[in-house]
Amino acid sequence: MAELVDAHDSKSCGAIHESSILSRGTHQDHLHMIMYSVLLAGTAIISVLLIYSNSPALSAVLWILLAGLFYIHLEPYFLKVRKFNHKIPGLKTPIKIAFIADLQTKKLKGKKFLHRVIKKINNLKPDLVFIGGDLISNEYFFDDSQIKSLAEFSVLSKNLPVYAVLGNHEYGIDFDEKKDQPHKIFSDRHGTVVDALKNLGISVLHNSFANISVRGQNLELYGTDDLWAENTSWENIKSAKNNLPLLVLTHNPDTILSYPKKIKKPSLVLAGHTHGGQIRLPFFGPVGNAKLKLGKKYYDGFFNWHGISLFVTHGLGESLFAIRFLTPPEIVEVTLLPEA
Ligand SMILES: [Fe+2]
Repeated sequence: MAELVDAHDSKSCGAIHESSILSRGTHQDHLHMIMYSVLLAGTAIISVLLIYSNSPALSAVLWILLAGLFYIHLEPYFLKVRKFNHKIPGLKTPIKIAFIADLQTKKLKGKKFLHRVIKKINNLKPDLVFIGGDLISNEYFFDDSQIKSLAEFSVLSKNLPVYAVLGNHEYGIDFDEKKDQPHKIFSDRHGTVVDALKNLGISVLHNSFANISVRGQNLELYGTDDLWAENTSWENIKSAKNNLPLLVLTHNPDTILSYPKKIKKPSLVLAGHTHGGQIRLPFFGPVGNAKLKLGKKYYDGFFNWHGISLFVTHGLGESLFAIRFLTPPEIVEVTLLPEA
């Protein structure tokens, strides 16, 4: 499958080198891209004509309508691969992880989209796959087709070790900022999701370790249960082995706020939940509110939080409506490298 390279950015942050490839995937999608390009060119021509005929306001309205059409209908179906390298002390050999979060599968963006995601993950040839929670949409609407669509993961889990943690959607929990506490908004479906994942051979971590051995390298992965469900505990991480690299997989970046002092720090924490704000306006930043105590600065990207490396993905799915702007759905490819 040919990839459209629409974006290639790089930024350095410590041991990080980040790059990305954006792809729409299928031939039908490419046809849509061509249609939108023609529409864009047509709008530009009409716009110039309107400006020359003293109708700049009409021209502006035309551009706003086009931008809305483009990003509402197109961006949620993009699929970006975002890559970064991360050096880890004690690692003997490079290890590649495919990390995804916030699939929030729903009727209009379900099995077919997940099929594309999984095909692309397979093409990356990772050693491990990590899933950072919120696999289902479970706020004000839910249907069983969401659980059924998760069966697509079997293509991955039959060949690769796949580890998952749960998010607030699995529990039907939101956060009430006025009361400064989580609150229940919908049915708790975490048991159904856990059963479905386990039946697919996916390990679900609940404040527990996965002892991973890959390419002759042992490492420990600690997966937390969800913060807003008030199920997070760091108790078991205290038994992390000093001689092994330690990774943490969690749903909500705020989970890191309760990380115990004076114990071994993880080499990398991977989180999701924010969708990057879902809509990001130039000069303004994230529009959506993920209700992070860490603040909007932590909605997307790589951070050093008191000596802990934290990466937050803007995820694959959307909250409520399939609308994104400058936060295309992404698969994150993390290559862990030995520290020289
Ligand atoms: Fe979430």
